[in-house]
Order: sequence, then C-alpha cells, then structure tokens
Amino acid sequence: QKDGYDTYMLKEINEQPHVINETLRGRVFEDKVVLNEIKDVDFSKFNKVYFVACGTAYHACLCGAQILERATKLPVITQVASEFRYNDPIIDEKTLCIYVSQSGETADTLAALRLAKSKGCTTIAIANVLGSTISRDADYTLYTCAGPEIAVASTKAYTTQLVLLTLLALYIAQDLHLDVDQDILNQLNDLPAYVENLIKDEELFANYAKMLKDKHDCYFIGRSLDYASVLEGALKLKEVSYVHADAYIAGELKHGPIALIEDGTVVIAVATQPHVAAKTISNIQETVARGADVILFTTENEEVNNVKNTYILPSINPLLQSVLVAIPLQLIAYHTANIKGCDVDKPRNLAKSVTVE
Ligand code: M6R
Repeated sequence: QKDGYDTYMLKEINEQPHVINETLRGRVFEDKVVLNEIKDVDFSKFNKVYFVACGTAYHACLCGAQILERATKLPVITQVASEFRYNDPIIDEKTLCIYVSQSGETADTLAALRLAKSKGCTTIAIANVLGSTISRDADYTLYTCAGPEIAVASTKAYTTQLVLLTLLALYIAQDLHLDVDQDILNQLNDLPAYVENLIKDEELFANYAKMLKDKHDCYFIGRSLDYASVLEGALKLKEVSYVHADAYIAGELKHGPIALIEDGTVVIAVATQPHVAAKTISNIQETVARGADVILFTTENEEVNNVKNTYILPSINPLLQSVLVAIPLQLIAYHTANIKGCDVDKPRNLAKSVTVE
C-alpha cells in the first residue's frame, strides 16, 4: 500500500506531481478555466467572500483568499472555522462562503457551513473525499483529486487545494468579465514538472533537517503569500517532529519575536513575492546579525548576501509559488521527524479527521 515508501507521508509527498495534474485535468484551457460544477452560480451578486477552514486547509485558504482578492477585487475575509461559527459573522445572501476540507468531516467546518446556509449565503465546498458530509451539505462542491490521504500530516491535499483555489479565483474573475492573468493560466500546467524536480532535491532538504534535529525551537518568517506558506511549514514541522515552530510575518519580527533570536537559532525564511521579498531579506539580515542559522527559499530575482543555506526556487508566477515552496517545507518536516525516530504517519495526540469540536 505504501508503494515501497517507508511511510504514507513520504508516499503522499511523492504523489504530488500526479495529483496536481489530476486536479488541473479538464479544467484549464488555453485562455480559460472551466469549472462545470459551478457554472450556474452568478458571481456578480456577491459583494464579499469568506474563506473558512481549519489547520492546513485554513493555510490554503489564506493563499486562495489573496489570489481571489487580487483577481476579482472583491473583499475577502479568511477565518478559522471554530472562530467563524461563534463570532456572529456579518453575512447574508450577498456573501459567498467557501469551505475547504480534505476529509469533508471536520466538525467546526461543517458547523460553520451550516451557519452560513442558515443566513442565506451561497456555499461552495472544496473537498477531497467523494460523498463526504461537506459535499452533501454545501450548495456546490469542487473536488481536489488528491486521492486518499492516509498520513495525518496533510501534504498532497494541501497543494491540490492551492491549485484548485487558484482555478476558482481565475474562474470567478472570468465570470465577472475581468481580465484573467494569462501568465498564471499558462504556467499552471507546468506545476507538476516543477514539483517533480523539487522532490529530486530531497537529499538537500534532508540536510537542512539535520540543522533542526537537536533544536527545541525554530522560527519561520515570510510576508504576503509567503506568510501563509510559512504558517503551513511551521505546522508541518511541529506536528510530525515535535520541534516547536512559530511562523511570523517578517515585518513583525521587530515588534517582539526578534528577542527570541540568539546564536544558533534556526530561522526558515520564504521570500518569493517580488513586491516584498527584499523587505523579508532585510529582516533575515537582522536575524543573521544576531547569530541565526537561516535557511532561505527565494527566487533568482532577489539579491541575497550572507545566507549560507539559500535555495533558489524556479521562477514562475509569484501567485503559484506557494505550491512549490510547500515541497521543501514538507520534506524538511518529514526528515526532521524521521531523524528523531518519530512516528511520522501517526503523530501523538492527532487524528486524521477531527469530527468533534
Ligand atoms: O479534513 P480537513 O481538511 O478539514 O482537516 C483540517 C485539519 O484538521 C488538518 O488540515 C490538520 O491541520 C492536518 N493534520 C495538518 O497536517
């Protein structure tokens, strides 16, 4: 069942080129996105969009929300489901609510969905499991095609959610007769090959993991879309390796977290968004000056000095970078856990599907 891999997590990481391709299949054409499942929705009636989910799916929402907001100029709010359901959100029939859940059975996400329906909102589920409760309860469902995800730590479900949320953003922009970014459309189909190449650098990411194996703490920093990526990287690391990991918006470092940086602190930084990458890199220099060992993921367009462990990601449209940087962050988490002898597929205290609140 593990196809020769030692763990489901590693198998699922390696399945990503294939499942991303499956998620794109039949949906991306030269000049447009086709999502037949939502062809009856009139998107012009909405004045606001909510993205709601838990855990990794919430991190996918943080990316999807930024992409949708930029593509459509609609105001977008992203909220964790356990907050949304108790926060009396201001929603009505002009609100589009998008719920993301791999299992489709997460109690808080389902409750948040039902609340939105009771207020007359239109609801779209992004699900992975066919026939799951979320797909039965939502007005419309779009499926990621990740296949069964067995490891508790979500990997392939996350990257396929990112891809599908990008398609959804482009589709809504199209429906609203806005200019669709042709560049992203063209590059979506290149993602599987890029992901495959990143996986080939596993050995290198396993070496980065050696920097973490004896650490109690690790800090992740990024801005804009990269902040969502580092939140996910930190979650992955803590859930499988039990290394305490915190993710910060790089611009917030000076407002407190930099007090934690000392000689030998590991900082994992992501700087792929051109409008803010130089700012993040300057924050990195501040951590280097305080003795941090930095691992940086960036693109060839950025100028970097003094950072020994810099990994250059392929140059693609910045809105697609979250899919690429997910791969090294997953592999760093995986190898840190593996070196420490942790049960990678079944981390302590966690269940694959959280069906109670
Ligand atoms: O099945 P869901 O996508 O609704 O699950 C949400 C979270 O419980 C899940 O993503 C969790 O955070 C993962 N274990 C993270 O790897």
